[in-house]
Amino acid sequence: MANTLGIRGYDYLELYVGSARMVAFWWAKAMGLDIVGYKGPETGSPDRMSFYLTKNDLKFVITSTIKAERCEVSAFVSEHGDGVKRWSMEVDDVKHVFDQATKNGAVPVIPPREYKDDNGVFIEAAIKLYDDTQLMFVNRDDYKGIHRPGFDEPRQKITLDRQDTGIKNIDHIVGNVRVNEMNMWASYFEKALEFETFVDFGPGDISTKYSALLSKVVRSSDSAIRNPINEPYEGLKRSQIEEYIDEYNGSGVQHIAIATDDIISSISALRANGVEFLSVPDTYYEDQKAKGFEIKENWDDLQERGILVDNEGDGYLLQLFTKPIGDRPTLFLEIIQRQGGSEGFGHGNFQALFEAIERDQMARGSL
Ligand code: FE2
Repeated sequence: MANTLGIRGYDYLELYVGSARMVAFWWAKAMGLDIVGYKGPETGSPDRMSFYLTKNDLKFVITSTIKAERCEVSAFVSEHGDGVKRWSMEVDDVKHVFDQATKNGAVPVIPPREYKDDNGVFIEAAIKLYDDTQLMFVNRDDYKGIHRPGFDEPRQKITLDRQDTGIKNIDHIVGNVRVNEMNMWASYFEKALEFETFVDFGPGDISTKYSALLSKVVRSSDSAIRNPINEPYEGLKRSQIEEYIDEYNGSGVQHIAIATDDIISSISALRANGVEFLSVPDTYYEDQKAKGFEIKENWDDLQERGILVDNEGDGYLLQLFTKPIGDRPTLFLEIIQRQGGSEGFGHGNFQALFEAIERDQMARGSL
């Protein structure tokens, strides 16, 4: 099916955090992104500070407030902790997508608007997504400046001792929603943005002794955007999805999956830079090898770095999940490499992953 809405792919993603300067430093030092833009009091933004970071196709904005007065940013952070405020799709025509989406059930948040400066025009609109999250439509075809009007060169250049992580682009962004909300959001994407559901895990498909989840993946017609949505399912104890909903105070983005062409090098560099990952027991590798599917990589290289393998769909995928990157057990990252046209998300690894997360939950006393 043609992508009639003109959705090109992911554009930027914005985090609201307690201290933008410190969080941006972590993304630069640990994840290997470059700080290429800045917005703050010196650039005519008296009440908030943003850093713009890029690497290959990745575009991240890290924002905090710098005033004591309660504002949209401080309200978000006090409610949810550091988290994803918005993620965006680059589109051919912002107004067209916004009009179609809102005509077909999307909740409008920001109508299409042109932001101009000497570098051209940046066009953006927003619709509502999970609770306080926004989904943006952007077009920067006629904008030559840094990110968007309001941003300038970083005020200071810092030299970082770090390894090249080789991470390239967003592969998928996952939402965690409350009981009975998953189908609502899947149909929101289907109706408003002509998405289709192509993965659907029901009761009993994904569960451990303690916790279970339901999961659906919706995608744009050409698969440029892939959006898994999880909801808790009854288990013996508090599942990781319930823990997220409780600690985040609602629904929101659970993880951002970032693609690389060489996960072995990427994970080595990320670990050397100080990124912490969930670990699986050695028995995981015995179990995987016993399944007998062919991979190009050396199993020992994967095991040494704790990289997971799943052969769901065509080809296979290699992936690894970080520990929560902020202070609350909410947002985390995934590093992923797809081989041979793999279209999956590692649901076959959920069992091992759940058990790893449950060990961390037990350590926090929340299971
Ligand atoms: Fe994922």
